[in-house]
Amino acid sequence: MPAYSDLHADALALRAPFPALHRSRGGKPPIYFNNTCMTLRPQVVIDAIRRYYEEFPTCGGGRTDGTTRLHNWFQDELREHEARAREAAATLVNAASPDEIVWTRNASEALNIVAHGLALEPGDEILGSEREHNSNLVPWLEAERRLRERAGDPDLVVRRFFELREDGGFDLEKALAAITPRTKVLALGHASNLDGTVVPDDAIRTLAKRVHEVGGIFVLDGAQSVPHRRVDVQDLGVDFLAWSIHKMCGPTGMGALWGRYDLLDALDPFVVGGDTIADTWQDRVEYKHAPGRFEAGLQDYAGIVGTAPAIEFVRDTVGYDVIHERELALNTRLTERLAPLQCDHFWLLGPEDPAERGGVITMASHSGALINAIERVGDEEANVMVRRGMFCVNAYLHRRFDRTDSAKNNLRASVYFYNTLDECDVFADIVERIVKNPLDFMDDA
Ligand SMILES: Cc1ncc(COP(=O)(O)O)c(C=O)c1O
Repeated sequence: MPAYSDLHADALALRAPFPALHRSRGGKPPIYFNNTCMTLRPQVVIDAIRRYYEEFPTCGGGRTDGTTRLHNWFQDELREHEARAREAAATLVNAASPDEIVWTRNASEALNIVAHGLALEPGDEILGSEREHNSNLVPWLEAERRLRERAGDPDLVVRRFFELREDGGFDLEKALAAITPRTKVLALGHASNLDGTVVPDDAIRTLAKRVHEVGGIFVLDGAQSVPHRRVDVQDLGVDFLAWSIHKMCGPTGMGALWGRYDLLDALDPFVVGGDTIADTWQDRVEYKHAPGRFEAGLQDYAGIVGTAPAIEFVRDTVGYDVIHERELALNTRLTERLAPLQCDHFWLLGPEDPAERGGVITMASHSGALINAIERVGDEEANVMVRRGMFCVNAYLHRRFDRTDSAKNNLRASVYFYNTLDECDVFADIVERIVKNPLDFMDDA
């Protein structure tokens, strides 16, 4: 691991492009530890968004399929940026073509497009882990509800789940054992937003092979993986990948769906109208081919323009190796400081080894007041921004922790490459004071 001084020097350079990190309140900078939810943006992304509004603020410029409705100066410029963005997203995940990329508002919308668009039949099963994010659970529960209605069978079970290791790590044997000849979809989170655990690439490849053998498809939720590691869809052998651009230094409300072209093009469109159509008549409609058939109405052109700089910043300017090295160093520091504090009223979730938890560390307690106190004191004393609650993995937390009455009392700190070891220490000092003297801080109980 690099020396502290190297990491510190790197951090200063890596922080420089982020205007939000140069703000201060009460003479102190922000400590932004909510990167799992959304990351900050570097100046180059902000400038790109501003350029759209200042220089070529036009509509409908982006399609690469030759069906654009305007041909003029502004629109030509916008179309160039849009093509660059789709190319950047395609190369990021090693798609076969930019036409395999659909713009969405976020990973949730991308997953909804797949869950809504697949032709499922009663008898088909959808498989996931016990810890899927609501965005990779609820769209499938809705697919289950639709199938029940069609089959006229309110008890039809369509979605099944397999268990993880006791500590939350991935268990390939359990996942493989859950795949049956009826498995039509494996919808799996690549990395957990709760505890950062990652499904190893080898396991993904093995699962993809097995799912294809039984005639199913593999939908990978990459919301927490693409911002942190190289994801090569062809190498992994998956069929769809959903991710969010706003979790990788990009504009808010931008996401992407990648799909193998034949499968993507065969999906029923989800939100329709606007630019999704090739032509309409009073009584019928002919849809465009992918990706246009999924991009209804005017798009977030500013967001699209900001997407290529975001991808290039993460992948080329910073690079996944640096991201990995820094997240490991930061999470190791947080773990070294927080793990020894574990006691009957405070503990950590997920595997012990920070190398298994990406940039995420999540604390839990029976006491909601203790968790509230950490968040409140962190905010008031040091501008620490963390997240508290169930992190959209309610189903897993209920299943595992309802019995200890701690399902709702969690607090997550998630780091990215621009965080520093000093920030980890400031936060750990606060947690230590509160955990060692809880009664001094429980006034908001
Ligand atoms: C694992 C996982 N999947 C899906 C999502 C949904 O992402 P978005 O909010 O961009 O729709 C998130 C968001 O935190 C996530 O962590």
